[in-house]
Amino acid sequence: MSFKDQIHIAMKEKGANIVLALDVTDTQPLSVLKRSLTILRDTQHSICAVKINLQTLILLGLEGVKKIIREAHNFGLPVIMDCKMNDVGNSNVKFAEVLFNVGFDALIANPFVGWKGALQPVFELSRREGKGVILLVYMSHPGADEGYGQIVLDPNCNEPTPQYRVFAEKALRWGADGAVVGATRPEKVGEVYEILRGQVPIYSPGVGVQGGSAIEALKAGASYLIIGRSIIMSDNPEKIVKRFKEEIGEFLKL
Ligand code: XMP
Repeated sequence: MSFKDQIHIAMKEKGANIVLALDVTDTQPLSVLKRSLTILRDTQHSICAVKINLQTLILLGLEGVKKIIREAHNFGLPVIMDCKMNDVGNSNVKFAEVLFNVGFDALIANPFVGWKGALQPVFELSRREGKGVILLVYMSHPGADEGYGQIVLDPNCNEPTPQYRVFAEKALRWGADGAVVGATRPEKVGEVYEILRGQVPIYSPGVGVQGGSAIEALKAGASYLIIGRSIIMSDNPEKIVKRFKEEIGEFLKL
């Protein structure tokens, strides 16, 4: 089964399209692991996937992260590695092999590095192994416009066009399993949705703490919301995630 199908099924089963960014902050690996597992258990009925960042992987190591992945899989939740992969092909593919072997179901990559000698071997590996590659198309932070919003020459027609539109076209052409567009720019979510024509689901981070609105992102065409601190840092993650689930329930693309 492809990653795209896997997460879609989890969304239907859980009735929720929230990807939990499990970014627990603490310097002690054991407390990060314990807290991550507790939050995962408490929120598992209201999320459709888990996303882990590099800082967590570095702190917990592969063995620690494996425990989170195993628990998530027991709950029927796929796990995404948010490594924003960004190197030459040989290094990328070695990194991807480690991630897929440890149990990650998908990874996030940066299309700035291009196809040949960079992301092509990662897509090929992921296809062989039934794993997913999600591409950054427009990040959620304020400075994202400096790169993703810059004007470049469209390689197809040599006309000036915004970088993120070229990336959205690539997500479609390369057969990406997802495209990340920040909920902080719902108009860009809408524009990218027009390009992707529903063939590549949009993942939208930036809801809550970064100021983005879940409803606006979904109305504009996002399929999944990536949410971290609003849930993780609350005293009652279970209550907060249920509230998100209820609020956005009617926008689920089942
Ligand atoms: P918060 O705490 O802001 O967490 O709800 C968001 C999570 O998503 C990551 N993030 C991004 N990941 N493209 C990505 O691939 C983005 O534009 C982006 N913005 C935020 C962030 O690291 C955190 O885990």
